[in-house]
Amino acid sequence: MKLLVTGGAGFIGSAVVRQAIAAGHEVVNLDALTYAACLDNLASVADDPGYAFEHADIRDRAALDRVFAQHRPDAVMHLAAESHVDRSIDGPGTFIDTNVMGTFHLLEAARAYWTREGRPEDFRFHHISTDEVFGSLGPEGQFTEETPYDPRSPYSASKAGSDHLVRAWHETYGLPVVLTNCSNNYGPFHFPEKLIPVVILNALAGKPLPIYGDGSNVRDWLYVEDHAEALLLVVQKGAVGRSYNIGGENERTNLELVQTLCAILDRKRPRDSGSHADLITFVTDRPGHDARYAIDPARIREELGWRPSVTVEEGLEKTVRWYLDNRPWWQALLDREGVGQRLGTTSE
Ligand SMILES: NC(=O)c1ccc[n+]([C@@H]2O[C@H](COP(=O)([O-])OP(=O)(O)OC[C@H]3O[C@@H](n4cnc5c(N)ncnc54)[C@H](O)[C@@H]3O)[C@@H](O)[C@H]2O)c1
Repeated sequence: MKLLVTGGAGFIGSAVVRQAIAAGHEVVNLDALTYAACLDNLASVADDPGYAFEHADIRDRAALDRVFAQHRPDAVMHLAAESHVDRSIDGPGTFIDTNVMGTFHLLEAARAYWTREGRPEDFRFHHISTDEVFGSLGPEGQFTEETPYDPRSPYSASKAGSDHLVRAWHETYGLPVVLTNCSNNYGPFHFPEKLIPVVILNALAGKPLPIYGDGSNVRDWLYVEDHAEALLLVVQKGAVGRSYNIGGENERTNLELVQTLCAILDRKRPRDSGSHADLITFVTDRPGHDARYAIDPARIREELGWRPSVTVEEGLEKTVRWYLDNRPWWQALLDREGVGQRLGTTSE
């Protein structure tokens, strides 16, 4: 297949691009290269004859039309987005522009191209979204594909909006779409402003390990390589108009997660004295911090035969190893604007 991947220089997008190329697909990576992008993530495929890069913005309709006409993709995998909840609290406008308006422009460019091509049935527009659109769970229950939307942050509201647009373009214009809503990803190449890389890098530097609130918030952790595999399966085999929840079957509180990371680091890089867990520091909670997310992955398991390949302990072990082995990658990113600072602390 020839895949047009948006946001392919980001964390999840780059995992998709690397796996797609390894599986023999052709990939056009369209990315605006925002602060969150890193082309080094794609060094292993950059010279592959099946890989092409387009430096373009999904809000630029003319650029999108040119890319569709020039590359004539079989499918779009749309991952480009503003993705950091804390940044969405400080500056929601960019999230609405990119995630809602950008998705609108991409849908319109895809629809124009698909119509010109004679509305091929096997074309796919795959929107990659989040479980955060479903809101927050209590101690029991899981999100299914039928859970009503209840987004609570500017980020999740913008992703809910883009999900609705994608469904509407299917219902109204017949565009063959598929959607996926996944839980929190982690793994190699994770940008050092998100919890897991922050904890690893602060621990290595002997700095405090910040945990929001009392650390009781629960997330369902999904290893990024497992997620990329699921996405490539859905774009090829998912039923048109259908959405699939993708979860890691690995619920942990933030405190448990950080303690597990500390135990791994204690083995791999022991401190001179004490445990890395001694660095854990509880900080003011994020405004509107969702208590618990958990995914019921029954649909993707039963219909497409996908399951996560690692437990969170195995995935964290691989992740810590990767950060220990790839210091030049993360060192360069730590100098970018806002990285390493606490963001999104005030709702005023
Ligand atoms: N990371 C997670 O845990 C997670 C969980 C659920 C869903 N998602 C979704 O998966 C997708 C990818 O997430 P990620 O963590 O890899 O994000 P990321 O922030 O690492 O990467 C986003 C990429 O999109 C690009 N981009 C941003 N605005 C753009 C624009 N206007 N035009 C073109 N490119 C643009 C950036 O340059 C970057 O390369 C997002 O849609 C996100 O909402 C992520």
